[in-house]
Amino acid sequence: MPDNLSFLLDKSVAHLGKGHELQRQGNLPEARYNLLKAAEFLFKAAERTPPPLKEKRIERAQAIVAQAEAIRNAVPGLPAAGAGPGRAAEQTAAGAGEWQVREKPDVRLADVAGLGEAKEQILIKMVYPFTHPELARKYGIKKGGGLLLYGPPGTGKTMIAKAVAGEIDAAFYTVKPSEVMSKWVGEAEQNIARLFDSARKQPRAVIFLDEVEALAPRRSHNISTVMARLVPQILSELEGFDSKADRPNTLLFIGATNEPWSLDEAILRPGRLDEKLYIPLPDFAARKQILQSNLKGKPLSPGLDLDEVAKMTEGYSGADLRRLCEKASDAPFLESIQTGLERPIEMEDILTVLRTLKPSVSPRNLERFHRFAAEGSL
Ligand SMILES: Nc1ncnc2c1ncn2[C@@H]1O[C@H](COP(=O)(O)OP(=O)(O)O)[C@@H](O)[C@H]1O
Ligand SMILES: [Mg+2]
Repeated sequence: MPDNLSFLLDKSVAHLGKGHELQRQGNLPEARYNLLKAAEFLFKAAERTPPPLKEKRIERAQAIVAQAEAIRNAVPGLPAAGAGPGRAAEQTAAGAGEWQVREKPDVRLADVAGLGEAKEQILIKMVYPFTHPELARKYGIKKGGGLLLYGPPGTGKTMIAKAVAGEIDAAFYTVKPSEVMSKWVGEAEQNIARLFDSARKQPRAVIFLDEVEALAPRRSHNISTVMARLVPQILSELEGFDSKADRPNTLLFIGATNEPWSLDEAILRPGRLDEKLYIPLPDFAARKQILQSNLKGKPLSPGLDLDEVAKMTEGYSGADLRRLCEKASDAPFLESIQTGLERPIEMEDILTVLRTLKPSVSPRNLERFHRFAAEGSL
């Protein structure tokens, strides 16, 4: 399916118009179906939209979902799942594959640069109990449970969650509220339940709750109707597991947020995400490692001094540095094609990119994280 932005927006607008028209005609099931489609396209469009318009589009899409929900509430006979006529078959066929967002990541903690203290905590809580079960028993170290990673965007939170699954050979499931809303519109509850059921059947599974602040926001008046139903469901799924401690299989929960201050503390209760770790921007050594791994295998000039680049990039996130390495390869690549001679990446290529590529985390936002981490509470 084409995924360009204007296509998605056009589809959204078309479905919205049709939905409202059908609603006026009293064809509520079809109206609801079209509204959900409109929201789905708008969520997809939002994923490709930079902030601040991104948030606006997500809000707008949530409002459309709420309209569709209101139709369901007004029509008692309408099935909760599936939406309109002719839709059922499509849902079952596509549904099964879509909610199974399971993977077996091959990332390791050693691939995650820096973050020494955080990684040590993660090893103790989430890795060693599996790799050294005898010792863990002797020292009374529990396995399973939850962990919240917070920090600026692009600092490796998703990567760490995948690395935990990689280290202990666990199945990896992602619950991303914006995706739950877009992919699973109309079936969110059933799919969340199926995801947790599926994870429980694995010998080991990591459930990664991304954008946790959307699941448990402090200001709950902001929440859409769908999310208002999902949040308690997810929280009880998290708790339901902890009470059955001696099952042979184990579930780990890792939550991530770029906005720890907007989290509801309920998510941090025992048995939920009961430990939290700050994932800061990379320090000098970590920046150097990230640069090295992203330039590995590429033709590099001997004049390219990565110590120097690491020094110049204070304030850049891991994701920014990856982008830097990608963009710095463009010019030499193009020149190599044009001249027929392989031209290595020079210091100058990096400097050129750095002139326009600024750190994605603002000093103000960073200050907020420092203060938050220092206070040590939510
Ligand atoms: N500490 C790190 N070590 C290595 N690579 C990193 C690190 N932080 C970020 N990156 C790079 O940036 C990308 C995006 O990071 P990600 O884990 O999605 O960040 P977050 O989830 O914190 O927003 C990663 O896939 C990786 O290439
Ligand atoms: Mg992430």
